[in-house]
Amino acid sequence: MNNIKKEITEALKDQQAIFGDMLYQEISLELQPKKSKSLAVQLDSDKVEEPKSEKLFNEDFEEADSLESLNSMICECQMCSLGKTRTKFVFGVGNPNADAMLIGEAPGADEDQKGEPFVGRAGKLLNDILKAINFAREEVYIANILKCRPPGNRDPQPGEMETCMPYLMKQINLIKPKVILCLGRIAANGLLGKKLTLAALRENVYDINGVKVVATYHPAALLRNPNWKRGCWEDVKKFRKIYDELTA
Ligand code: URA
Repeated sequence: MNNIKKEITEALKDQQAIFGDMLYQEISLELQPKKSKSLAVQLDSDKVEEPKSEKLFNEDFEEADSLESLNSMICECQMCSLGKTRTKFVFGVGNPNADAMLIGEAPGADEDQKGEPFVGRAGKLLNDILKAINFAREEVYIANILKCRPPGNRDPQPGEMETCMPYLMKQINLIKPKVILCLGRIAANGLLGKKLTLAALRENVYDINGVKVVATYHPAALLRNPNWKRGCWEDVKKFRKIYDELTA
């Protein structure tokens, strides 16, 4: 008994030499699914302060059986730093059973305020483009690679795209479109996992899991350079043709 008391006293003395008069205990804190971090927390007599476990995302989102439930599972996402700077999470909008889907890059300032993709100047041009190929905005589904606005409208970073991509893939799995139009180089390369120029991307019709993918200019680029509208017109006619063929 005396030996045990002596050993405990020695151990406590060693701890005191390192940590001072506070008593610490090693515990495991779950920060992310399947990853744990070791943390020393202060022991207040015999009361252990519970660490606050912050959930960065809902790991069950893959089980969502509708767009609505998916949105409610992921709309509080904090998996990247954009979660802290966004005003609204921009999930997507449109027909949940759409055969045609449009994918942009990331929300801008207007979208961040409204929580809806393509509602600013570029969005108005997009609505006109859709009208020109006989689509109403409500008939298609519109989403972005990123669900949160990059501050100052900077380009999405590769890590942000990688983190957000599973949400878009789940949306595509739920909607099951027949054809996707990617708006701009970043959206097309992000979705297709490529590093091509827009000129190269526009030359082909791609296929991801049986869904046809066409790339064209981003509407914001068309606002800056109207000379590209002719090329965009060719691309969206091709998009419409594929849609007509696949839904006939
Ligand atoms: N640009 C995009 O890529 N997406 C939007 O939603 C708005 C502007």
